[in-house]
Amino acid sequence: MAKILIATYSWSGQTQRVADQIHSLVPDAAVFSIEVAGDTFDSDMYKTDAIATQQIQRGQYPALINPVPDGSAYDLVLVGSPVWRGRPATPIHTFLKNLNGFKGAVASFYTDAGSAGDYETVFKEWADGLTVLPGHEGSTGLQDWLNQLQQKI
Ligand SMILES: Cc1cc2nc3c(=O)[nH]c(=O)nc-3n(C[C@H](O)[C@H](O)[C@H](O)COP(=O)(O)O)c2cc1C
Repeated sequence: MAKILIATYSWSGQTQRVADQIHSLVPDAAVFSIEVAGDTFDSDMYKTDAIATQQIQRGQYPALINPVPDGSAYDLVLVGSPVWRGRPATPIHTFLKNLNGFKGAVASFYTDAGSAGDYETVFKEWADGLTVLPGHEGSTGLQDWLNQLQQKI
């Protein structure tokens, strides 16, 4: 049985709901909430977008306030994020760079308002050096996606 970690960043709860659905399908998986300090972003979507864009332009990704689990304990890490301007949310970059000792594969699940843009391409860039399996958009078809992943690990 593969050891799975479900790691999720969610700004307004949608992605967390999908993470909860995934966890109900793989109840043995561990869960980790990717969290940043409360003043990192804004309650306003457009201001948050501007902050995240500036972080990317400057290469200054936000620190996480909780320690990332030891990656060596897992075969597969499912990384959840909202789509922000066609990319993963910036805390995902920090998370991926802090998966120390991780030798398994990562696969991303993400939610959006209809336009995922370059999400999966940018996720792969941010996961440079890790094995990236196909991602999943939205909240339907999760079981099929998980079945496909289980065959690849
Ligand atoms: C800063 C920001 C940027 C966003 N950019 C996009 C986008 O490019 N495409 C899209 O379809 N939705 C976009 N959205 C909407 C979110 O992806 C969508 O509401 C998502 O389900 C929210 O997930 P969450 O509740 O886990 O944060 C954006 C939302 C925010 C706050």
